[in-house]
Amino acid sequence: MRKITVIGAGNVGATCANMIAQKDLCREVVLLDIKEGVAEGKALDIWQTSSINHFNTRVTGVTNDYLKTKGSGIIVITSGMPRKPGMSRDDLIKMNASIVINAVEKVIRYSPEAIIIVVTNPLDVMTYAAYKTARKDSRKVFGMAGILDTGRYKAFIADALHVSPKDIHSMLLGGHGDAMVPLPRYTSISGIPVTELLNKEEIDKIVERTRKGGGELVNLMGTSAWYAPGAAAAQMVETIVDDQHRIFPVSALLKGEYGMKDVYIGVPVVLGAGGIEEIIELKLNKEEMKLLQNSANEVKATMNLLDEMDLIAD
Ligand code: NAI
Ligand code: 2OP
Repeated sequence: MRKITVIGAGNVGATCANMIAQKDLCREVVLLDIKEGVAEGKALDIWQTSSINHFNTRVTGVTNDYLKTKGSGIIVITSGMPRKPGMSRDDLIKMNASIVINAVEKVIRYSPEAIIIVVTNPLDVMTYAAYKTARKDSRKVFGMAGILDTGRYKAFIADALHVSPKDIHSMLLGGHGDAMVPLPRYTSISGIPVTELLNKEEIDKIVERTRKGGGELVNLMGTSAWYAPGAAAAQMVETIVDDQHRIFPVSALLKGEYGMKDVYIGVPVVLGAGGIEEIIELKLNKEEMKLLQNSANEVKATMNLLDEMDLIAD
């Protein structure tokens, strides 16, 4: 691929650009931020690791100059604020939606064919904002959260069992919030169901820690995580660039799948050069379906809030 753009050169954006460069996924990564000099500085710093980490991808930083993003095949959107004390959830939605909408409007002018991966929170709703703004096929506008959340889930399982995280496979559904739905029934370690290796109490504890995994890191660091989120977004980029058809949980627009419509929510998809090649419908049991519905209701309520704000031009 010729060019990939990452909007937002903060913790997640810069980490993602660094991973994309290290994986040598394209000729150029453009890192864009609104803060004068920040993207330029971080891009230069990453580029100066090229001889050390052996990659060719040129990393360019720009301050709000969308012309430099022209011809991108993939756009990763990480621009946005974390929630600050005294700020309501609605304030955050409004502020970040404005940032995401503005970025999408500008970036698609120069790269109308690009696939858009949203990272900004609240994730599922910001992905919906990007989709409505871009007016593209929903298979080309989706959000990153499930790879991060399953990454956390697998790390906790690896610790509990003292086994390699490489051997753990799992699936997780729902919105990127405390109502997310990790699926022990779809979790295995080298083919062995996790339920044969851990008891219900141990699994429940891991599921609960996964749901609150973002908050755990905020409490430790005073800001949200970036290594795993940046790596997860870069893994989605790699899968698309190499047309790998790997299956990941991704925030996707449902059009009847799981009995739901018009809601962005985490579901397993096949990712490839065309973006979402297929949404996979799992045969959920009643309890799993109820949890997914509950999570979808939460996301839908926030999507409605966004619609009421009327931020997106008709
Ligand atoms: P950060 O504060 O380090 O970086 C955000 C960057 O966006 C800043 O450099 C800021 O200058 C830039 N920015 C703000 N307005 C902009 C605009 N209009 N145009 C271009 N750039 C603009 O934040 P961090 O840690 O990188 O997180 C970014 C977003 O990703 C947050 O909304 C965070 O909640 C979210 N996030 C989502 C995750 C997920 O799983 N989906 C995981 C981790 C973070
Ligand atoms: C995370 O899960 C806060 O979405 C961010 O780390």
